[in-house]
Amino acid sequence: MKASELFELSGQVALVTGASSGLGARFAQVLAANGARVALVARRAKRLDELRKRIEASGGRAVVIEADVRDRAAMTRAFDAAEKAFGTVTILVNNAGVAHSGRALDLSEEEWRRVLSTNLDAVFFWAQEAARRIIAANKQGAIVNIASVLGFGVSKGVIAYTAAKAGVVQITKALALELAFKGVRVNAIAPGWFMTEINDAYLKSEEGKAKTREIPVGRFGQDGDLDGALLLLVSKAGAYIAGATIVVDGGQMLALRG
Ligand SMILES: NC(=O)c1ccc[n+]([C@@H]2O[C@H](COP(=O)([O-])OP(=O)(O)OC[C@H]3O[C@@H](n4cnc5c(N)ncnc54)[C@H](OP(=O)(O)O)[C@@H]3O)[C@@H](O)[C@H]2O)c1
Repeated sequence: MKASELFELSGQVALVTGASSGLGARFAQVLAANGARVALVARRAKRLDELRKRIEASGGRAVVIEADVRDRAAMTRAFDAAEKAFGTVTILVNNAGVAHSGRALDLSEEEWRRVLSTNLDAVFFWAQEAARRIIAANKQGAIVNIASVLGFGVSKGVIAYTAAKAGVVQITKALALELAFKGVRVNAIAPGWFMTEINDAYLKSEEGKAKTREIPVGRFGQDGDLDGALLLLVSKAGAYIAGATIVVDGGQMLALRG
C-alpha cells in the first residue's frame, strides 16, 4: 500500500481540543491536510477562527467551537456542534493543557485543581464522550491523548503537571483495554520540549536555552516533529496500535536516564 493511502483520513471527523495555539493548531492543520474535517475547540474563538480560515484557504474543512474543556455542558455542546457540522467525531485529539510552576510546599489547592481538571479530568471526560458516541454510531474511532515526558519522569516545580500527565498515560492504557475490542483505539503522544506559549518564556531564558544540551538530537522539537506520530495513531497505519504512548522527545528521556 502507498504511504498516502495508509495515512488518508477522508471521511473522518476530527475534534482537536486546545486548537487555538501551539501543538493543537498544528494537529488540526495536519489532520485537515490529510482529509479529515476538523472541529477546532478552545476558549479563544477569535484565534480558532483565524485557524479555520487558514485551513479552508488550503482546501480543508473546519468548524470553530468555543468551549472550556473543564465544562461538561460545554463538552456535550461541542460534540453536538461538531456532529451537526460534519457527522460523528471519529478522531479525538485530547490536547488542551496548562502548565504551572511552583514548588509542592507552596502550591495552592486552586492551582492543583486548575491543572488536574484541565490536564487529566477533561482528558478522561472528552475521551469517554467521544467513545460513547463512536460506539453508538456503530463506527470505529481513534483517540489520541497528549501526555508529556513528564508523565514518566519528574522535575522540580511541576508536581500537578507531572501527576496529571502520568495519569494521562495510565488512562490511555486503561481506556484502550476497555475500548479496543469495541473499535475505539486509544493512544497517547508524549512530547519532549516544543517551544509554544506554554513554555516560551522559560525556553528563551538562559536556563531554558541550556536545556538543549540535555537533548541528544540537539534541539527543541519544532513544527512537524509530531506530525508522523499523530498520523500513525489516527490512521489505518496504526490499526493494530492500542494503549501505546509514543515518546517524541529527541531522545531527552534517554539522556535523563544517564
Ligand atoms: N510544548 C511542550 O513542550 C509540550 C511538551 C509536552 C506536552 N505538551 C502538551 O501539549 C499540549 C498543548 O500544549 P502547547 O505546548 O501547544 O501549549 P499552548 O500553546 O499553551 O496551547 C495550549 C492550548 O490548550 C488550550 N486550553 C488550555 N486550557 C483550556 C481550557 N480550560 N479549555 C479549553 N482549552 C484550553 C489553549 O486554548 P485557550 O487558551 O484558547 O482555551 C491552547 O489552545 C498540552 O497538553 C501540553 O501539556 C506540550
